[in-house]
Amino acid sequence: MPSTRKAYRAAILHSIADPAVVGIEASYQYFEDGLLVTESGRISALGHASELLASLPADIEIVHHKDALITPGFIDTHIHLPQTGMVGAYGEQLLDWLNTYTFPCESQFADKAHAEEVAGIFIKELLRNGTTTALVFGSVHPQSVDSFFEQAQKLDLRMIAGKVMMDRNAPDYLTDTAESSYEQSKALIERWHGKGRLHYAVTPRFAPTSTPEQLTLAGQLLSEYPDLYMQTHISENLQEIEWVKALFPERKGYLDVYDHYQLLGERSVFAHGVHLCDDECARLAETGSAVAFCPTSNFFLGSGLFNLPMAEKHNLNVGLGTDVGAGTSFSLLHTLNEAYKVMQLQGARLSPFKSLYLATLGGARALRLEDRIGTLQPGTDADFLVLDYHATPLLSYRLQQANNIAETLFVLMTLGDDRTVLQTYAAGNLVHQR
Ligand code: GUN
Ligand code: ZN
Repeated sequence: MPSTRKAYRAAILHSIADPAVVGIEASYQYFEDGLLVTESGRISALGHASELLASLPADIEIVHHKDALITPGFIDTHIHLPQTGMVGAYGEQLLDWLNTYTFPCESQFADKAHAEEVAGIFIKELLRNGTTTALVFGSVHPQSVDSFFEQAQKLDLRMIAGKVMMDRNAPDYLTDTAESSYEQSKALIERWHGKGRLHYAVTPRFAPTSTPEQLTLAGQLLSEYPDLYMQTHISENLQEIEWVKALFPERKGYLDVYDHYQLLGERSVFAHGVHLCDDECARLAETGSAVAFCPTSNFFLGSGLFNLPMAEKHNLNVGLGTDVGAGTSFSLLHTLNEAYKVMQLQGARLSPFKSLYLATLGGARALRLEDRIGTLQPGTDADFLVLDYHATPLLSYRLQQANNIAETLFVLMTLGDDRTVLQTYAAGNLVHQR
């Protein structure tokens, strides 16, 4: 961790509130010629360069980016590490896609060397795309999580992950048992949870692949340790929902299965939620649970359109998820491009400032980490990005026609991708340079 102060001068933008709650103008801070100061892995000051420069010692190192925008690091609230090698698998919707492509691909993680290789590729890809925090599904094998955390720890990243729990309706080569999933998860929690900036997430894959016994033990783990996360999938696909009803006829619906096993709560993140009903949104909000909105995946698997306005009506926490490998990009900029179209198809708008919120502070709130990440407020972790206005010829030309930061931001989200991310900083350290 660097103990010396360092300053970054550029245009600087961050979300400070949800535009759906406070209105667009009060939701962000923008410094056209801004200065961000970091010290010992944290942000120590943020403001207008003209005001802050005078307060800095004469010998401080100042990095000046004239045609770039500094934002907080992006937060991906739903992604699968062991699906890195199967992005873009042709032709199927959710349940056939799982059986045809996903389970065979995840089985390769039985080999620790393979897990290590893919964890390295995966972390590089996150950082290349400006994602500094992610909520990550491992495979059923504990070594998928060990490999990921070992490498995330070396870079001092703030990351959350868990081993998949799956004891039925999957091939024998990829299932655990209720007992073994409990024991293996517990060992990983003891090894990793709260170590540096790492956190553990109890990870039942989804209701169809867990027995009632396994879901009970998942709930028990959550009650045994403070501040654990829980991640799973919900209401992504209509066939999936019918299957859950058949497997759990005694429950009122899909969410009620998770509710019954005490898996809802302030650190619980449910991926997709495309077909949630009004009552389910209300119950999620009431319990402080969050939903990961995964537009590229929902398009790719033909799952449907997430109803963000309904979630907003219930004041439900929503983060953005790439859901690689059903999702088709690691880039949250690209994911926001698709999110905009999801709203258009429902006759709604997604303002660039709401998009910025979803990719940063909204994600941090979904993960209950808003006091550490998601903004550039002094005192928080120095996880931030330098986005390049000249990343591509078209972006460079198009931005010449942008009249204000709202237009600039929207164009960055429409044309942007990994090329837009010039630098990624985590805990004040440069962890990616394009
Ligand atoms: N539901 C259960 N498992 C998965 C998965 O791996 N990806 C997606 N998109 N949905 C799921
Ligand atoms: Zn998923």
